[in-house]
Amino acid sequence: MENPFKFGSIVEDEYFTDRKVEREYLAQILASPNHAVLIGPRRFGKSSLVAETLKHMNREIISVNMQMITSPEKLAETIYRKYFEKHPLDKAWHNLSHVRIVPTVAFDSVTGSPQVTLLPGVNRQVVLEDAFSLLEKAGQEERLVVVLDEFQEVMKIGEGLDKILRSIMQEQKNINYILMGSQEDMMKNIFLRKKSPFYHFGSVVHIGRIPASDFREYIEDRLPLYGRGAGIADRILSFTNCHPYYTQQLSFQVWFELAKNTGKDNAVERAIDFIIQSHDFDYSRLWESMNKTNKTVLLKLVNGSNSPMEDKTLPSSTIYSALKRLVSSGILIKNSKYEIDDPFFRLWIMRNQ
Ligand SMILES: Nc1ncnc2c1ncn2[C@@H]1O[C@H](COP(=O)(O)OP(=O)(O)OP(=O)(O)O)[C@@H](O)[C@H]1O
Ligand SMILES: [Mg+2]
Repeated sequence: MENPFKFGSIVEDEYFTDRKVEREYLAQILASPNHAVLIGPRRFGKSSLVAETLKHMNREIISVNMQMITSPEKLAETIYRKYFEKHPLDKAWHNLSHVRIVPTVAFDSVTGSPQVTLLPGVNRQVVLEDAFSLLEKAGQEERLVVVLDEFQEVMKIGEGLDKILRSIMQEQKNINYILMGSQEDMMKNIFLRKKSPFYHFGSVVHIGRIPASDFREYIEDRLPLYGRGAGIADRILSFTNCHPYYTQQLSFQVWFELAKNTGKDNAVERAIDFIIQSHDFDYSRLWESMNKTNKTVLLKLVNGSNSPMEDKTLPSSTIYSALKRLVSSGILIKNSKYEIDDPFFRLWIMRNQ
């Protein structure tokens, strides 16, 4: 029998649980001429929510990860490339008549995939207008869905890029934009700050943890050896705190432990030990790469401090910047309090301190 848990890539269908409210809301936005802004920490399920929602809608999607974009020109090139991946050049030609700065398109001789380049030194506003109006044309018959992932990177890619994009996007009628991001503070700055060009550009949907009641049922259905109400799902969830990715990862390992037929007892603990051991090298390297303040802050959190700012051994400004750094690198999540994102890393620190 196949392991019924899945982690790492997008989950759909039988691997997908809950998010009913978010799915319905997103579907409504996509059925109207509006845009959605999804904010949620790394690996909380943003891409899966979009995939599951769009699956039945039969809409064309162009998706760009802004983390991979190094300049405004690269953004234009990537949009062209994504477009040519779906539309053969000969058929796409009529949608390109408006383009003022024509890109060079070559096809990889082995894979056949398109490679697009724009001459260096081109006017960035013009190339972006050209590329985005290609998308607008492509959405003439049915609105196109354009997903820009890790959208907060727009602030780092090029000065004024947010203004240029906003001025282009606000004229468009044939596109539903889904702008996603995992850096909550930056995303809020972009969409909720009055002076920002993207102020109130779309409806903001926050992606949180999956409620324990849904996740419990999902896990119990897939670990029948234990039977309902045996407490295994709660043991898993209390360790992962309902984090979607780590819950699936731990459940996967628990299922595997049970399949080994070495007994039901301590299956969760054995699974946790296995995962921590298999990540020992990465965790050591991660820990070694951190400066002293980061380590101090993490140790405080591991040892039960909810509020590392109250530490008296370091200036509060130093702690504040360490917390900010740790959140922005995804090691901490900030909700009502700061938490270590990865529960296995948390336990690794606890055991090794
Ligand atoms: N609705 C869900 N039901 C069950 N598991 C889920 C769900 N959403 C996410 N997961 C789990 O979390 C993992 C990460 O999901 P996904 O890649 O969609 O998140 P993301 O927020 O887009 O992540 P990233 O920040 O890496 O882009 C999935 O592989 C799956 O294990
Ligand atoms: Mg994603």
